[in-house]
Amino acid sequence: MASIGDPRSWYPVALSRELGSRPHAISVFDRNFVLFRDETGQPAAVGRYCAHMGADLSLAKVVRGGLQCAIHGWEYDTRGICRRVPGVGAPTDVHISRLACVERGDVIFVWPGPEPDWPFPAIPSLQVPRAARPRLLQFTCPVSAIALNGFDVWHFDSVHRRQVLSTPEVRSVAPGHLGISVTAAVRPGRVYDNALIALGYGTLHAQIDNWGGNLILVRNMSGGYVAMLGMIPAGTDSCRMYLIVLDEARKSWVGHVLQSALLEVYRAVAWAFVKSDVPVVSGMRPKKGYLIPGRDDAVQSFWQWWHALPRIEALPA
Ligand code: FES
Ligand SMILES: [Fe+2]
Repeated sequence: MASIGDPRSWYPVALSRELGSRPHAISVFDRNFVLFRDETGQPAAVGRYCAHMGADLSLAKVVRGGLQCAIHGWEYDTRGICRRVPGVGAPTDVHISRLACVERGDVIFVWPGPEPDWPFPAIPSLQVPRAARPRLLQFTCPVSAIALNGFDVWHFDSVHRRQVLSTPEVRSVAPGHLGISVTAAVRPGRVYDNALIALGYGTLHAQIDNWGGNLILVRNMSGGYVAMLGMIPAGTDSCRMYLIVLDEARKSWVGHVLQSALLEVYRAVAWAFVKSDVPVVSGMRPKKGYLIPGRDDAVQSFWQWWHALPRIEALPA
């Protein structure tokens, strides 16, 4: 799990469906927390141990949109503030720790502290995003290997069979952000690629936005779905990825039903693309290495940005 020293960013920690009627325990940023939903369904993340005597709040009840400790019934709201002590009222200054918490694409993300440095990035080009079922993947490489992959233009051809047509443009538009835009031609040969060319999708205008090092948004500027890759370290030199595919929500119920099928197709297509990377990033221990001027300039920019990203510090108690 993400720890002290990792970039400050939004980290995916659970699937939406894992937040049921009971608090859901997580370990992240070298601490223990519980996730739960308030009365409106908004997710919250607070410290796992009760301020009174340290009871485990993963055993608490969710009551009135807050947590009620299983031992003496102290209640905490979504900000971790103790709002009620049975028979006493509410002490004014008692609280437990809290993390900023959002839900996107049926995945719960947390920030390493109560106030994020930057808001969760908007999903580009989508007003009301609707997500396909997230796909959860394990990788035997650190997060940086996958982040680096998005800026490694050379591999687009050697691994993905997409011939880059112009010099990629790398730029940062906000703190925590680095993006790259690439125009590439689909190389014919494989059935799927031949079909893309036949359907008029032979040229790809891709925009890849990386936020905080671990959150990647990919879209084809010509239209179609947006892919979001949210990653979190999972032990030494391994990570977990939530692959989320998003499309503009259709308003009519007929459109909604048709879109359900389309999202499954998008999900399969996105996975087919990401799957090509699995054998090449598996076991990778990314380093700056011997970069070739001209071919590896975007990688050079990536490493400069990556090393300058603000890092997680010890959380307050
Ligand atoms: S330990 Fe939680 S209310 Fe006493
Ligand atoms: Fe790749």
